Amino acid sequence: MTSGQSFYITTPIYYPSDVPHIGHGYTTVAVDTLARWHRQSGDDTWMLTGTDEHGQKMLRAAAANGVTPQEYVDKLVSEAWFPLLEKLDAANDDFIRTTQPRHEEGVKAFIQAIYDRGYIYAGEYEALYCVGCEEFKPESEIVDGTGEFEGLKVCAIHSKPLELLHEKNYFFKLSEFGDKLLELYRERPDFVQPESARNEVVAFVQQGLKDLSISRSAFDWGIPVPWDESHVIYVWVDALLNYATALGYGTEGGDFERRWPGYHVVGKDILRFHAVIWPAMLMAAGLEVPKGVFAHGWLLVGGEKMSKSKATGIAPATLVDTFGSDAYRFYFLSAIAFGQDGSFSWEDMSARYQAELANGFGNLASRTIAMTEKYFDGSVPAPAAYTEADLAIQKLVADAAANADAAIERFRTDQAIAEIWTIVDALNGYITDNAPWALAKDETQRDRLATVLYTCLDGLRALAVLLSPVMPKSTATLWQALGAEAALGALEDQNVRDAGAWGVLPVGATVSKLAPLFPRIEEA
Ligand code: MSP
Repeated sequence: MTSGQSFYITTPIYYPSDVPHIGHGYTTVAVDTLARWHRQSGDDTWMLTGTDEHGQKMLRAAAANGVTPQEYVDKLVSEAWFPLLEKLDAANDDFIRTTQPRHEEGVKAFIQAIYDRGYIYAGEYEALYCVGCEEFKPESEIVDGTGEFEGLKVCAIHSKPLELLHEKNYFFKLSEFGDKLLELYRERPDFVQPESARNEVVAFVQQGLKDLSISRSAFDWGIPVPWDESHVIYVWVDALLNYATALGYGTEGGDFERRWPGYHVVGKDILRFHAVIWPAMLMAAGLEVPKGVFAHGWLLVGGEKMSKSKATGIAPATLVDTFGSDAYRFYFLSAIAFGQDGSFSWEDMSARYQAELANGFGNLASRTIAMTEKYFDGSVPAPAAYTEADLAIQKLVADAAANADAAIERFRTDQAIAEIWTIVDALNGYITDNAPWALAKDETQRDRLATVLYTCLDGLRALAVLLSPVMPKSTATLWQALGAEAALGALEDQNVRDAGAWGVLPVGATVSKLAPLFPRIEEA
């Protein structure tokens, strides 16, 4: 299925200065679900994720641990960040590390190219820097410290003191791109999504852009500036370029032509880098800007952005080991409106697991299969004449599938899941209304019983396909149990965009016993 249009999507590359928390896991599962949906729709899909390994934050974390920065990142990447992808069941196509030679070469080629095009100059710089953000902070994001930092200027995001830096730097002429960027946002209103993020970016650029310092000379943990090796390239410029270098930008025979431009999904804290600086850098190089940038909200704990540095970080493994990776994916993608902040709580996750997964979807699957085994010896029965109630289910399935696909086009995984869930709820109501257990007692209702069960079984077939990008494991189990694997082939080969069609599960397919998809959680 690689005949469709190109769909290249990226997560931000994470700082491996520490172990991941559920905020990082959130971006990853969202992007993975979007990528799986497109891949399973026949689009020429490529999902990229990776790690952002240079900069002062990393240098300091390594020093604090008494190892070299390379040793430090190697350890964290292999022990914490690779395993995260497995934990979350992410099917990324590539993983880029900014310390890889393929990246370093591409970055040098790019920087040289925009230097040659006249967009870089040398200058003096003095400003307040936040190592947590790896950014010189604008006035609007500097606040007065409190408590132990009383009397100091601190970063509004990290609440840690800023450092005054005075250096000779190379600058990128970002200020020249204000009008072109505003034109881009005007011509392509969905370039930055959601609307609130777009408005913030437009307002920021309208205030006027300052040139950007793109090199540092006070330390050497980074990629050298090609024409002046006493400087390393500013970590954010280095990092943003991963989206191009991973596709082989600057090298022969890469996939850059085939896949670029793509979509970036990022947390709102790093929106400006992606929606302002990155397109300007691409314009300077004469390359196409991204197809779009989607900013999601923050996971909040106690009303604040969850973060490791504030000791509010929760490890994804804690939740996955209890609820499973499918439930983790489902919970974060359905419970939080994608684009807005959301509060995580164990109680909420637990309640939704029980209500929506165990009692809703899981129970629908178990009882439909159990009844097919009991009343039809496990063979998918042939439906007889459809009644209005049956046709209403068929229409609902078709509408939900189409609406879910439209929601995914808008990057709204939460709305897509809500659409799909109308099928779960409708089928559970349909079973109650039609009471197959009562029909089974009356031999003259045999045809009706067959129609009712077929409606549930083909509805489950649609659900397995539609939910597979969100919950790959449980839907694969269901697919097997429906006998669909043998009759229709692998689940990942079913086109999601065709999932709303009716009558796909072949009559006579053999269902098999299904253990609860979402077993009861024994809480410690
Ligand atoms: N390394 C940079 C990104 C470079 S991309 C060219 C970075 N790394 S990060 O590890 O700090 O954050 C990576 C992503 O995790 C960001 O999208 C950020 O928004 C997200 N999250 C970090 N904490 C989060 C929450 N509490 N909630 C939701 N997402 C959060 O920034």
